[in-house]
Amino acid sequence: MPEPVKLLNAEQVAAFDVEYIDDSLFQHFNKAVNEFIKSPENLHLLDVGGGNGSYADRFLEHYAGSQVTIVEPDEAMLGKNNVHPNKHLRHGIFQKFNNSETFDLIQFNWVLHHFVTSGYSSTHQLQRQGLLDAYDMLAPGGLIIIFENFYEGKNDSNTPGKHIFHLTASKWLKKLTRRLGANTAGVGVCFNSAYHWQQQLQDVGFEVVHTSHCYNFGNLSLWKKCLLGIKRQRVGLLVGQKQIS
Ligand SMILES: C[S@@+](CC[C@H](N)C(=O)[O-])C[C@H]1O[C@@H](n2cnc3c(N)ncnc32)[C@H](O)[C@@H]1O
Repeated sequence: MPEPVKLLNAEQVAAFDVEYIDDSLFQHFNKAVNEFIKSPENLHLLDVGGGNGSYADRFLEHYAGSQVTIVEPDEAMLGKNNVHPNKHLRHGIFQKFNNSETFDLIQFNWVLHHFVTSGYSSTHQLQRQGLLDAYDMLAPGGLIIIFENFYEGKNDSNTPGKHIFHLTASKWLKKLTRRLGANTAGVGVCFNSAYHWQQQLQDVGFEVVHTSHCYNFGNLSLWKKCLLGIKRQRVGLLVGQKQIS
């Protein structure tokens, strides 16, 4: 059993009250769903860490007749959700989410890197457990959909994510990392390479059926990039499918 998840405080979470998915990112998602779900009507999506619900609204507008359940630990973010008859809000962490139904889609939009505990390897265990739990909650043939920031070092290594985890998780360095711009200072954040996530998905039983490169990002100075071992920072989409039978 992995160690318990560490959560950001309300002030830190408030920084995420934005809409991350624009038309172009939604098209990446849409393409994958239409390719791998035979009849994309009346879907039930679980949006893990769905925050202010703007993504759920976009999904429901596009897939009318579908349902979205959002599981979100931050009450203030949940409170920002527009009311919709097909949107179901559940307050709490994914790790304690109990649901008797299965889902057609489970989505993690920039959430998995917040699954952190006190240590780096226990954090990876917690993230892996998150993927495993998603596998169990999906209907056969269901999709796990992950939008993430990928941090990649030399040869697609996880080195930058490891450095960022240790710096942001440290209580001693909290003041410094906050001053350097880390919103997650004192709690931690654990980014990985796309390669790492794909390995983890396969390891828990998913077939990785789709990967998209969305865009490169980053405004770190050269010295910070060198220090952290960053070769590439990019946003991408990974889609895994649960076995059909
Ligand atoms: C970077 S924000 C992304 C919000 C939203 N998914 C989006 O794309 O706009 C991360 C969200 O994950 C939530 N979160 C963090 N840890 C979580 C957990 N263990 N279970 C469920 N949600 C979590 C946070 O409260 C926050 O709303």
